[in-house]
Amino acid sequence: VSASAVDQDGQNVDLATDDKEVERLLTAFHEVLPWPWKTMRLRSPLDAEFYPRALNIAAGHLKEPAVPLTEARIWVAGCGIVQAVQTALDYPNAQVVGSNISQREVELAHDIANQVGAQNLDVRQENINAVDYAAEFDYVICTGVLHHQANPPATLRLVARSLKPNGILELMVYNRFHRFATSAFQKAMRIMTIESEDDHFEQLRVARTLLGEADENSSMRRLHDQIAGMPDVAVGDALIYPVEHSYTVRSLAEMATASGLRLATPRVNPFDEVSGADEWELRIADPELARRYERLDDQNRWYVTNLLRLERSPLLWFFLQSNDTKRNIPDQATLAGEFLDTVFRRNSTTLRSYLLDSGERNRYRLSRRSVEFPSRKPDPGVLDIYEMIDGTRSMREIFRDLGLPVDMASVNRARTRLTSMQFPYLTIT
Ligand SMILES: C[S@@+](CC[C@H](N)C(=O)[O-])C[C@H]1O[C@@H](n2cnc3c(N)ncnc32)[C@H](O)[C@@H]1O
Repeated sequence: VSASAVDQDGQNVDLATDDKEVERLLTAFHEVLPWPWKTMRLRSPLDAEFYPRALNIAAGHLKEPAVPLTEARIWVAGCGIVQAVQTALDYPNAQVVGSNISQREVELAHDIANQVGAQNLDVRQENINAVDYAAEFDYVICTGVLHHQANPPATLRLVARSLKPNGILELMVYNRFHRFATSAFQKAMRIMTIESEDDHFEQLRVARTLLGEADENSSMRRLHDQIAGMPDVAVGDALIYPVEHSYTVRSLAEMATASGLRLATPRVNPFDEVSGADEWELRIADPELARRYERLDDQNRWYVTNLLRLERSPLLWFFLQSNDTKRNIPDQATLAGEFLDTVFRRNSTTLRSYLLDSGERNRYRLSRRSVEFPSRKPDPGVLDIYEMIDGTRSMREIFRDLGLPVDMASVNRARTRLTSMQFPYLTIT
């Protein structure tokens, strides 16, 4: 039985007829509502290898990088106005290409790239459904884009083709269980605004009014509360976006397989951190069921977590790799073991910031203040581990000295709290 990724009734896919039509709709939306709204700060790490090291370790390449620390080629597929610029600043030794169908967003991205002096960046007005990249990139980032395409499996095939054999794809698509209300609302809006389908501000007005009338204690009321106070583009993304597919771990994994890819490891991300729903490992108190759950392969375990946590499961944000790679990212159990066998040192860099001068000129300028990064302390649950890191003892010795459990879930929880892109506290000596 195949998990159908396309559910006409549950998702907002009526307008997903063909690439040309969706390109027209998305371009019109982003001309009026460029994504994202103002990012107040762009970071610029002084250590050019800080993020490349963090990426490799977070993606499970603990021993030897798969994405080269210098001269990597990175593609940001569907880059909004700041994502490609931020990537160029994070990976100053890499060459970054950003693709975007929206001319307005490309112009805004060029402008910001000039303001921060990002020389290693080429932002192109280019449809990711019409590219011809073959084995070109070490690292491809495609977040929040695939689920808005007419035919996501076809888009993913092109994205997969762009990866070098040992490359890493960072992919985020919407989790079906997060999108019941948004997809239903978008479908209702299509009918209610049929006469103003090109007028995004009128659509926003109608959407806000209708959502304001949602019943107390309903899913729609929760959606209303979530977007209260958000800028127009974020409200537009939730309420009036023209096309919205969504997935479960199962349907995403099937789509990946059809492109010769596999879900390798979750990518811990800021949104799940904020919502407090960033854990893929369930805690099951019943010992027999806990063992049964732990014995599942990664994909089935993540799917069970996805099903049981439902709207509290994480975003579907993963690192993927080609099935033909020679640099296989190990499964979570093996990764936990490798983490324990590794000697880490603390990771830090000096961070400069470009701050948005929100005055009339709306420009980014370099702040005089630099800070040590990461600037926050690690999560209290792993602080004692972090404090024992000395560049000589292995994680296994530290776990033993602290009397910590070494089951897969506990170790992986520590691993993601200390060595993910979101929490890049440790690196390898
Ligand atoms: C929701 S935004 C996400 C932006 C960015 N990836 C991020 O995570 O912040 C979607 C972006 O993808 C772009 N986009 C959508 N479909 C595209 C396509 N077929 N080709 C190129 N860019 C596309 C849009 O113009 C917009 O910039």
